[in-house]
Amino acid sequence: MNLVERRIASQELPWRDNDALGTPITVDGDATHGIVNGRKVILAGTNNYLGLTFHPDCVAAAQQAASRYGTGTTGSRMANGTYPEHRALERELAEFYGARSAIVFTTGYQANLGTIAGIADARSKIFLDAESHASIYDGAKLSGATTFRFKHNDAKDLAKKLGRIDDPGSAMVIAEGIYSMLGDYAPLAEICEVTSHHGVALIVDEAHSFGVLGKNGRGLAELQGVEDQVDIVVGTFSKSLGCVGGYAVSRRHDLDPLRAAARAYLFSASPVPSVIASARAALRVLEREPERRTRLLENAERVYRALQQFGYELGPAVSPVVGTIIRDTEKTLAAWRFLLDHGVYVNLVAPPASPGPYCLLRCSLSAAHRPEQVETIIEAYRALKETGPLAR
Ligand SMILES: Cc1ncc(COP(=O)(O)O)c(C=O)c1O
Repeated sequence: MNLVERRIASQELPWRDNDALGTPITVDGDATHGIVNGRKVILAGTNNYLGLTFHPDCVAAAQQAASRYGTGTTGSRMANGTYPEHRALERELAEFYGARSAIVFTTGYQANLGTIAGIADARSKIFLDAESHASIYDGAKLSGATTFRFKHNDAKDLAKKLGRIDDPGSAMVIAEGIYSMLGDYAPLAEICEVTSHHGVALIVDEAHSFGVLGKNGRGLAELQGVEDQVDIVVGTFSKSLGCVGGYAVSRRHDLDPLRAAARAYLFSASPVPSVIASARAALRVLEREPERRTRLLENAERVYRALQQFGYELGPAVSPVVGTIIRDTEKTLAAWRFLLDHGVYVNLVAPPASPGPYCLLRCSLSAAHRPEQVETIIEAYRALKETGPLAR
């Protein structure tokens, strides 16, 4: 066997089931509905927190940009891939965050890869929350820095680990806002105290909290009043803005030099104009319709409290992500299928995507979910516990 054959033969998949390995979903004109296996289902397993994927402004902006600028830039930002619209989005993001500068990347994954590996190098030390997203781990690995993991959401453990270093100027801490699988929040104010005390840089990935938390939707750092203590915020357009792309912004630093250091920025084609246009339109909606955030959090509260009452094992905080830990692999698959049969699509999650050595179902809410859809989601979870594969 050659290497490819050996590798493919040795890959262990949690489920050898075509649906579980990426269910084809037909979405047609509505952010909250899809067709799966010929059945109409409520989409409760997306990151469409503000429900903007079909917002008329965002769709029209994308259509106009595609007609005017074409389907792609065919080049990197450092070559032929910077259009005035990329710069405009960067200016708008910087204004939104009250930041000195912003850089737009083609994906959120690349935003982490480029930012982390553009800043740290083999002489650096990176302290990561143990439950960090893969893109953070991958960025740290690409940088060549020595990586230390601190216990999930444990500022004391971080303090202990930082207390052992004698060169804080070479160190960087990375945390997230809302964690994507169980919806828990980072203790960001405590983390900021620790990083400020030690004089260590802090990057916060607000992928799941941008557009969701804070008076203006700037995320957990805004909610906890620590924006000025964060060196760089990284985020994505693929969740609250309903398209694709990523960014890094900073209130404290001019990030422009990163453009020449971030390989994920330098050596990849820039975002297509239609995506930039829809991201800009979505940012305007996010700013002018704060009621979307209110609705989202009301929906989240309703589902979280109901599932708590049904006895599900949940994350510690009410947030738009309501993850239920199920542990047993086969039971999780059966539960996921049961919810689908009851008209509700959620995410089926197994290691390494889940935060522990267990499986879970990830339900996520949207501002676009109507009250009757929220009730359908709740009733499906109730049935799963009372008469479905999770009944005792
Ligand atoms: C915390 C976090 N950071 C970064 C990303 C990557 O973002 P994108 O999917 O937009 O590339 C994700 C995606 O799920 C994420 O959850």
